Amino acid sequence: MSKVTVVGAGNVGATVANVLAHMDIVREIVLIDIKGDLARGKALDSFQQAPIDEYSTRIIGTEDYADTADSDIVVITAGIPRRPGMSRDDLISTNANIVTSVTTSIIQYSKNPIIIVVSNPLDVMTYAVHKASGLPSNRVFGMAGILDTARYRAFLAMELKISPKDIQAMLLGGHGDTMVPLPRYTTIAGIPVTELIDDEKLTAIVDRTKSGGGELVKLMGTSAWYAPGAAAAQMVASIVRDEDRILPCCALLNGEYGLNDIFLGVPVKLGKGGIKQIIELKLNDAEMELMQSSAIAVGEVIEVFKKM
Ligand code: NAI
Ligand code: 2OP
Repeated sequence: MSKVTVVGAGNVGATVANVLAHMDIVREIVLIDIKGDLARGKALDSFQQAPIDEYSTRIIGTEDYADTADSDIVVITAGIPRRPGMSRDDLISTNANIVTSVTTSIIQYSKNPIIIVVSNPLDVMTYAVHKASGLPSNRVFGMAGILDTARYRAFLAMELKISPKDIQAMLLGGHGDTMVPLPRYTTIAGIPVTELIDDEKLTAIVDRTKSGGGELVKLMGTSAWYAPGAAAAQMVASIVRDEDRILPCCALLNGEYGLNDIFLGVPVKLGKGGIKQIIELKLNDAEMELMQSSAIAVGEVIEVFKKM
């Protein structure tokens, strides 16, 4: 049974810990935050839910990295979230400093963890954590594609009035307005989505997906946490159970899709040890053009980070 550390006990971090505890697949979850009492309080509250919902996972809260020692998996959610009017990129310098110092502290106590990054701007923060950790790229990757795909699938379920369970979809690119939902790789119980919905409605859903994070920031005054927390927990589960699920994750590309030295959303096989394979889809010209645009947008922010 594994030990998982979640850094940041805010909205997303506490949700990751709580969803993961309910899965009852890890021995211990350490919730760590600079606000130690917040981490202690949320951990205690989550463990007091265990007798009711019947799970054995221990959850402890702390501000001391010694408590994270020998973690198998670390989920980094520390940082500031988006406020109305802010883009994800506005967060870059504050969150880059936070995730870099967090990574250094983690590596001091856990020699070879798998790190899942959630902090925004996601693709660039994953790049920063990879650099700071010195870990191989199959052990450092980011969560965004599962969330973005889930939003796309939820919007389709709402439009078609069907269960979201039957909607399969894939999405590529950065976690931002240039993300690339792929209608050609979207099926409803095996039926191509284009047979069930007209072009105009599908385009509207793709557009709503691209601004799905911003829609929630406008509604709540801060960014989302239920779906993001569940998405990161799903990644942890695929690793802990060695499930080999095919999930869209933010991974380092070394020639795949014709791209190099960039973290971007792509389908990966996720299991024991982290990313086992990056799957290269055969994109048509239009899809490849969208992927290239997304890479350019993310690459520009990585350049900003490199100059910091
Ligand atoms: P939040 O403000 O609720 O929680 C962030 C927590 O990080 C706070 O409790 C804060 O004390 C803590 N923190 C700050 N500096 C720290 C440090 N050096 N060490 C340890 N903890 C530290 O924010 P929320 O909503 O949980 O979002 C967290 C991050 O996740 C944000 O950057 C947000 O933009 C991002 N996010 C990413 C998503 C994705 O799809 N990748 C989806 C949703 C949020
Ligand atoms: C989201 O997509 C803001 O990245 C965050 O909800």
